[in-house]
Amino acid sequence: MTTATSPHAFWLAGREATGDETLTVTSPWDGRTVGTVAVPTEDQVEQAVAAAASVAAEFAATPAHVRAAALDHVTRRLTERTEEIARLISAENGKPVKWARGEVGRCVSVFRWAAEEARRFNGGTAQRLDSDAGGTGRLALTRRFPRGPVLGIAPFNFPLNLCAHKVAPAIAVGTPIILKPAPATPLSGLLIGELLAETGLPAGSWSVLPVPNDRMPSLVADERLPVISFTGSGPVGWSILDSVPRKRVTLELGGNGAAVVLADWSSDEDLDFAARRIAAFSNYQGGQSCISVQRVVADASVYDRLVPRVIEAVEAQVTGDPSDEATDVGPLISEDAARRVESWVEEAVAAGAKLLTGGKRDGAAYAPTVLADVPADVRISCEEVFGPVLTLASAEDEEAAFAAVNDSKYGLQAGVFTHDVQAAFRAHRALEVGGVIIGDVPSYRADQMPYGGTKESGTGREGVRFAMEDYTYERVMVLTGLEL
Ligand code: SIN
Repeated sequence: MTTATSPHAFWLAGREATGDETLTVTSPWDGRTVGTVAVPTEDQVEQAVAAAASVAAEFAATPAHVRAAALDHVTRRLTERTEEIARLISAENGKPVKWARGEVGRCVSVFRWAAEEARRFNGGTAQRLDSDAGGTGRLALTRRFPRGPVLGIAPFNFPLNLCAHKVAPAIAVGTPIILKPAPATPLSGLLIGELLAETGLPAGSWSVLPVPNDRMPSLVADERLPVISFTGSGPVGWSILDSVPRKRVTLELGGNGAAVVLADWSSDEDLDFAARRIAAFSNYQGGQSCISVQRVVADASVYDRLVPRVIEAVEAQVTGDPSDEATDVGPLISEDAARRVESWVEEAVAAGAKLLTGGKRDGAAYAPTVLADVPADVRISCEEVFGPVLTLASAEDEEAAFAAVNDSKYGLQAGVFTHDVQAAFRAHRALEVGGVIIGDVPSYRADQMPYGGTKESGTGREGVRFAMEDYTYERVMVLTGLEL
């Protein structure tokens, strides 16, 4: 049992355990210690993986109602403990508490969807095979079965919900999971373990192991974990895929989300709305979301009226202590992260970009920033900033705006402000991204939707049902001698 002074235990095959070492979780806002967490030894990691492998067949055979009931239990407990969990996310991640509450709400929805999908998921189809003489009296039944235990690797930016996106679909299909939360924010992932421990899921069917990143490669290489679901940075994600090309690997990587404002989105009300949404979602959680708004591409006919509105809305974002109800924008995850953002903005300005607002750092906090006339070859244009920085550009027409969005190595989501349903369909066809949001910013994700990118934004899809499909494969059974 964890006490106020002892480190938080991790979860080894469903049971609390402590190792020889600890890691300290500090608040990005004020540097205070939020908690210490026990780190599993090599031997304990081996025990967790061995337990996952040995329980796989038993877990796959667990009735759907048992798995669904466990997921329902987590849904209920998350709901009951929302405020406490939101405060935990905010403390370890620096996310303003109002955004953290939203994250808990989404996590509730992930577990609820997983419970519902667990009840109806079977992949079952029946095909008569007597369409050819050789198949007379034969029927093919197809069902989905787990590929095997999953290694889920989660990032710091949604420390609860992106763990949920790994864990809940695994339980829904009855496949064991080893969850590795981010070293900066392990407490939220461990909290999911605490709720799972209240269920009767078989020992070994889940573990939460706060393993340091430098020990990840041996877990990735372990053949007893044939499925990997990774959310995080591009270089790490692609190196995982390159190191285990025969595994089933899903990668949710970066983006440099664009919001397009087309010519028909032109009334004062339209532009005020777009500016408010752009300001809020280029800065939510300090821009540390793969689908935050990093680029605005506005039709030249509305650009000059949009720019002052965006600046005003960005300047209205309340910065400060993430535990304060009024705060919109807290710190970044670390001072190093804020320094990197600062250096990218400085590079852009030195190359000729205009700084319209922001551009100041204070410790781990970086002021909401807007840049215009940004050269195409600086990092803020080509890379994912993962900070509260927005670039503004105008485009001659719709075609040029869509081309500007596609002129990126990333392709996660895009937002298109238009009232024109035909333009919406043109955007859906033209934009090389995993999701197009019409009438809003790219930063919208409902947790049941397929979520993932093209190009360097990754491969595969999350979203409860889509992850369930990813974790399983179709297996056909042919019945013979039937009177069809
Ligand atoms: C991400 O940053 O990739 C996750 C975004 C989200 O779940 O809203």
